[in-house]
Amino acid sequence: MPYAHITGWGMYVPELVLTNEDLSKIVDTNDEWIRERTGIRERHIARENEYPSTLAVRAGLKALDIANLRPTELDLIICATSTPEYLLPSTASIIQDQIGATKAGAFDLLAACTGFIYGLNMGAQFIRSGSLKNIMVIGTETLSRFINWKDRTTCILFGDGAGAFVLQASDEPGGVVSAVMHSDGSGANLLTLPVGSRFPATEESVRNNKHFIEMDGKEVFRFATRVMVQATNEALKAAGWTLEDVQWVIPHQANLRIIDSAARGLKLPLERFIINIDRYGNTSTASIPMAAVEAVENGSIKPGDKIVLVGFGGGLTWGALTAEWTGPLPDRRPVHPQRYRTLARVRSIFRRLLRFIEGIFFRREL
Ligand code: UT7
Repeated sequence: MPYAHITGWGMYVPELVLTNEDLSKIVDTNDEWIRERTGIRERHIARENEYPSTLAVRAGLKALDIANLRPTELDLIICATSTPEYLLPSTASIIQDQIGATKAGAFDLLAACTGFIYGLNMGAQFIRSGSLKNIMVIGTETLSRFINWKDRTTCILFGDGAGAFVLQASDEPGGVVSAVMHSDGSGANLLTLPVGSRFPATEESVRNNKHFIEMDGKEVFRFATRVMVQATNEALKAAGWTLEDVQWVIPHQANLRIIDSAARGLKLPLERFIINIDRYGNTSTASIPMAAVEAVENGSIKPGDKIVLVGFGGGLTWGALTAEWTGPLPDRRPVHPQRYRTLARVRSIFRRLLRFIEGIFFRREL
């Protein structure tokens, strides 16, 4: 049975930074409150011409670069997102076209902030079953589009960004070892983004700010502190590991106090947790891969390290995944995946043109 190795990683955040100080000019809040209650100092915000796919393409190409894999070698793209570009088509298909992953299937996955863990587990299963070899899992968000900038209880929390992993099959032991996924829909009302077929936009709903993120912060906080410990222990047990075996825990970056509480619950020093919430806020599905990418880049996570990813979010959903960090598969000649981007653009335009011409010639026969 092949192993599913994490062989590439990349992240991207928009350039525009919104500090706590900036927010205090928009709503009744202040830097001290936000830092003390959440650990957040600043977050990145997408500009008008930046979308989940824009961020994901950049993160994804970096991940392919590290894995030294051509986009055309990808079998599947799983895009976990809480803020899809459209309800239809999937953000994953847009990414697939833009990076030129011509042979890949593509779909979006919605499990709120736990989405990246669900996606990584799903990708690993495709590889373990022997049916696919190269998979990209992406978490990408532009949450800023769904924030009510008059609501100080939510607008201070969220940020935009993307993180991507490449999963590859190998007979060498390592990679994703175990995962647990959970859901409790009885708490669906605690964190919602009412955009969809139940709440189609009307003049009135838009006027009443009905299509923004709504959250019962206290309840979500309580739920989070409970499930982070539980899910971590379950995933460790499934892997046959104990906490002593693990070098790093990479938690969903929602609130520093939630991470701190998980650390105390697990009786693990906070230094063993990868934390970057201060600079990005809560980026939902992107938060775990972004934290992992930074930790690899600054030399904290090294090949051979055992890691636990753990997250929670709307749904309610929660889960954890264990993996042994390996890095790129043994060298082959550099394939420069970034070069495929221009080619992908040309191909996309060409295919549209072809579809248009086909339409003219074959319209009468249809
Ligand atoms: O991906 C999952 C997404 N969600 C989460 O993880 C959220 C989990 N929950 C949380 O992180 C926290 O509950 C919050 C950060 C949202 C809120 O922190 P809290 O410690 O639970 O604050 P609170 O709601 O109990 O509010 C305490 C006080 C209130 O004032 P009073 O009633 O005590 O006078 C709030 O009105 O702080 C006030 N407050 C603020 N003050 C300044 C609430 N928001 C703000 C603010 N600035 N932004």
